[in-house]
Amino acid sequence: MADHVCPVWVGYLLASPIRKYFQHPQKILKPYVEKGMTVMDIGSAMGFFTLPMAHMVKEDGRVICLDVQDKMLMALKKKALNEDVFERIDPRLCSGDDIGITDLESQVDFALAFAVLHEIRDVPRFFLQLYPALKPNARVLIAEPKGHVSESQFSTTLSEAEKAGFLELGRPPIFRSRTALLQKKGR
Ligand SMILES: C[S@@+](CC[C@H](N)C(=O)[O-])C[C@H]1O[C@@H](n2cnc3c(N)ncnc32)[C@H](O)[C@@H]1O
Repeated sequence: MADHVCPVWVGYLLASPIRKYFQHPQKILKPYVEKGMTVMDIGSAMGFFTLPMAHMVKEDGRVICLDVQDKMLMALKKKALNEDVFERIDPRLCSGDDIGITDLESQVDFALAFAVLHEIRDVPRFFLQLYPALKPNARVLIAEPKGHVSESQFSTTLSEAEKAGFLELGRPPIFRSRTALLQKKGR
């Protein structure tokens, strides 16, 4: 959709604990993330959602976190070390058009794409790459900022998801966000 990526300085703001007062990661993720799961945080930045996910999946779980900016992932790794969850995260620097997850065939229980889809240039390709990495019936939560993404842009994104094999299950309410909970359909 766009050729703009979130600057690193915004990454620090997004990781601020103050954000929890209006977008609380555990409350947002609780319906979807359980102990032992393999989950994915697409466009993880500095880990506002990755780190809570790492605590929620506990020792046997794993969080694959994807970002196109190494500086975001470096900061995330440092925080994961401080919070003693480094062993549970799998940070991957991706190239943008190629998210680099072909090795994950049917492994992922849940994926989060929070405030990232409007930064991805080729959204149809993104959904086509995501699909095979998910287990059958795995769910994907997408959220886009209302300030950056119009309802019609969001609808276009959802129709690309549908074409790639995802079913919309609902629209969970999240502060100032357009959201959709998707599920991988069988082909
Ligand atoms: C607005 S930030 C949102 C970060 C995080 N999801 C959050 O809500 O705090 C978007 C992040 O997605 C990353 N990003 C942009 N395009 C991407 C792509 N094609 N694949 C993976 N990450 C991408 C950016 O580098 C940035 O760190």
